[in-house]
Amino acid sequence: MFSTRSFVGFVALALTAVLPALSQDSEASSQPGLIWNKLETRAELNWTDCYTPPLQCARFQVPLNYSDPQSASASIAVIRFPSPLAGTDQYRGPILMNPGGPGGSGVDMVVGGGAVLSQLLGPNFDVVSFDPRGVGFSTPRASFFPTEAQRQLFRSPFFDDIKATRDGIGRMWARAQITGALATQQDQKDHLFEHLNTENTARDMLRMVEAHGQEKLQYWGLSYGTVLGATFASVFPDRVERLVLDGVVDAENYFATLWSNNLLDADKTLQTFFDSCFAGGPDLCPFYDSSPQAISRKLDDLTRTITLRPVPVVTNISYGLVDYARLRGAIGLSLYSPYVDFPRLARGLADLLQGDGTVIYQMLETEPVFDCHCGDTLPLPTIQDARAAISCTDGQEVRDTVDELEVFVRDLLRTSQWGELWAILRIECTAWPKQEKRHFRGPFVGNTSHPILWIGNTADPVTPLAFAHKMARGYPGSVVLTQDSPGHASIAAPSLCTVQHIQSYFLNGTLPAEGVVCPVIGPIFAAANASGTAVDGPRITRDLASRKLEGDEQDIVDALKRLRHSFRVPTPF
Ligand SMILES: *[C@@H]1O[C@H](CO)[C@@H](O)[C@H](O)[C@H]1NC(C)=O
Ligand SMILES: *[C@@H]1O[C@H](CO)[C@@H](O)[C@H](O)[C@H]1NC(C)=O
Ligand SMILES: *[C@@H]1O[C@H](CO)[C@@H](O)[C@H](O)[C@H]1NC(C)=O
Ligand SMILES: *[C@@H]1O[C@H](CO)[C@@H](O)[C@H](O)[C@H]1NC(C)=O
Ligand SMILES: *[C@@H]1O[C@H](CO)[C@@H](O)[C@H](O)[C@H]1NC(C)=O
Ligand SMILES: *[C@@H]1O[C@H](CO)[C@@H](O)[C@H](O)[C@H]1NC(C)=O
Repeated sequence: MFSTRSFVGFVALALTAVLPALSQDSEASSQPGLIWNKLETRAELNWTDCYTPPLQCARFQVPLNYSDPQSASASIAVIRFPSPLAGTDQYRGPILMNPGGPGGSGVDMVVGGGAVLSQLLGPNFDVVSFDPRGVGFSTPRASFFPTEAQRQLFRSPFFDDIKATRDGIGRMWARAQITGALATQQDQKDHLFEHLNTENTARDMLRMVEAHGQEKLQYWGLSYGTVLGATFASVFPDRVERLVLDGVVDAENYFATLWSNNLLDADKTLQTFFDSCFAGGPDLCPFYDSSPQAISRKLDDLTRTITLRPVPVVTNISYGLVDYARLRGAIGLSLYSPYVDFPRLARGLADLLQGDGTVIYQMLETEPVFDCHCGDTLPLPTIQDARAAISCTDGQEVRDTVDELEVFVRDLLRTSQWGELWAILRIECTAWPKQEKRHFRGPFVGNTSHPILWIGNTADPVTPLAFAHKMARGYPGSVVLTQDSPGHASIAAPSLCTVQHIQSYFLNGTLPAEGVVCPVIGPIFAAANASGTAVDGPRITRDLASRKLEGDEQDIVDALKRLRHSFRVPTPF
């Protein structure tokens, strides 16, 4: 699903904030393995031009086991959008980023959005990201299947949903026993998985910082990237220069493999669809009805219909069904990035009412139907296996029975109707190989050498604001910035205010005052101009109501708009 080849899995990603759009068309992008295969792995960062200018790549050598650094090593795929001020006295070094997941590819993120991220963070910094150990173009990579064809056949291109059939939970558990057994077979060979823990990735980041000739980390972590950042802050508190942790996960809950409290605000996020569609009116929201409640009821009726009457779809690159699971997945996906996806969702739902499922189908369609490139020896793009490999390794062992999982799912559904799409995250760990788990799993506390900036949205579907506050308590001096928007992590919605706070923090070290709430610009359902391109509507916001945007501000708003279109938000949904 971030990959360009594997079919998007219903639960392909959990806590990922951003995914690149699939609009790369150069030869390099269609065969990115070619780029990485040509690079030598070195303990220095030997930057080589890659993808499109000015991007540069390097393969960076780290010990697989930091307690035994002389034995095997790993090769981390690192990419940067270099600072145009490098070599001047205004150059301020690298800002490392992590896009979430776990299992998300930092390489994909910078290939798709490096230029925009550089514009947002300012010219003083290199924007640097990497595929964490086990992920994407880093080696060794986590993979439970010997071939891509086997993986694709196992994860058939029809979505699973535990509520779609009466044996849903049992089926998901049974499939997890198979992936667990395959992972165990692999693990007996090389004991790889135990090395893929988040503490080791934090150590890899420190090595990257040092390879840049710096002592301390500057970092912007999204979603699961906040678990990585908090781990770094606890293990290396005196190596913190700047940490922006955005879309904050309750790390204790994550390391307990509970996944039980992510969805506290998810229903609130869906409510913003009903409210913003109603506010947009029938011209801007095709799924409009006489009240937000009426829109909600219309969606319930449509869902009931689809449950009994799936709709077939054939597109120019694939084919399949819009059934209960796929419809729920498309809606769940849209909660991550309402500014991009609610208008599309509204169009798709209106079409579906008329029997046309194409738009809803395409919301989760990221690539052509899988075709076997048998004999293909190039490394494949990111695959889904990395998520389980990292999260099940990080977390406490789970050995739940189906009966126990029935209770777990019931509790999850009490936090949100979207619990059905989230349950896999615990279920997929139920047969994970036995591990010693000596890596860092808390406590999440630290006196960091510079205070942390935490960011939470008021209606984030998978990282509720409450956990930014909970996590901040462990790190004296840190501050929570609230962004008043739906969507996952701050980049889901356009807020000049948030961007300016992030810029001041990185450049000057300044933290916002406690309690700052940043507004966002423009309504979700905005007028489309003549070319049919959505624009941000009347340029009116609560903080900018009385004046026009100035040049720089307009640039930032435009950059945020491009970022929202150059990244695709992911799916555990
Ligand atoms: C750096 O990488 C380039 C291209 O991959 C290679 O030709 C060169 O030998 C490398 N330099 C060093 C010092 O490793
Ligand atoms: C890492 O190395 C240490 C020291 O040799 C060893 O005790 C430990 O088992 C290794 N960890 C793994 C996961 O292999
Ligand atoms: C498929 O159709 C869409 C629009 O209908 C178009 O944008 C896209 O380029 C087409 N893709 C291919 C591979 O032809
Ligand atoms: C941070 O510093 C305070 C005050 O010196 C101390 O009480 C606390 O234990 C320290 N916390 C950690 C995690 O070291
Ligand atoms: C950083 O501080 C300088 C000097 O105080 C100020 O002029 C500048 O606007 C600040 N930059 C940001 C991004 O806050
Ligand atoms: C419509 O919006 C796009 C993107 O903002 C812009 O490039 C285009 O010029 C606009 N067209 C009109 C007719 O305003």
